[in-house]
Amino acid sequence: MHSDRRFDNIALIGFMGAGKSSVGHLVAEHLHFDYLDTDEIIQARAGRSIAEIFATDGEPTFRKMEAELVKELATRARTVISTGGGLPVDPENLAGLRTYALVVCLWASPETIWERVKHQTHRPLLHDPDPQRKIRELLAKREPFYRQADVLINTELRSVREVAQQVAHQFRLEAAGP
Ligand code: S3P
Repeated sequence: MHSDRRFDNIALIGFMGAGKSSVGHLVAEHLHFDYLDTDEIIQARAGRSIAEIFATDGEPTFRKMEAELVKELATRARTVISTGGGLPVDPENLAGLRTYALVVCLWASPETIWERVKHQTHRPLLHDPDPQRKIRELLAKREPFYRQADVLINTELRSVREVAQQVAHQFRLEAAGP
């Protein structure tokens, strides 16, 4: 089952505000791994913010950039990869990540997500007249994809540090093999 997979990276997936970046940084520190964030790489390459990319080129262009990046990252080792919230919705992206990473999903309820993101303005998909409804709808659509992760961690009642410890623990278990 695991024979066609490498576990020398960790990919964090999950909805906006699930804590991928803050948890990812701590996990990387803990395991002495590199850390990278697909949104940051895309922004650096484009020389524009995600919001600008969405506004000028449209979401499909952004999704293509994500898909290309997933393929490129196959060369990575000992890296925590934090992914944009919509990236695993493309089954090829999820399948790609699974070939070279343990895929960990950070989960939170729509209410918690809203509490975490309501004062932030950089996410184009939440520039909506009713962002709370948008979060509920998007999360419901994406749940089946997020659930395909190797490990699902509910972040609701745990601190960032506890979630990071859990991720590192699961990684060590998987990396050790059966
Ligand atoms: C998106 C999530 C964002 C970013 C873009 C689209 C999404 O990343 O990739 O705004 O579709 O959920 P974060 O999950 O890091 O906020």
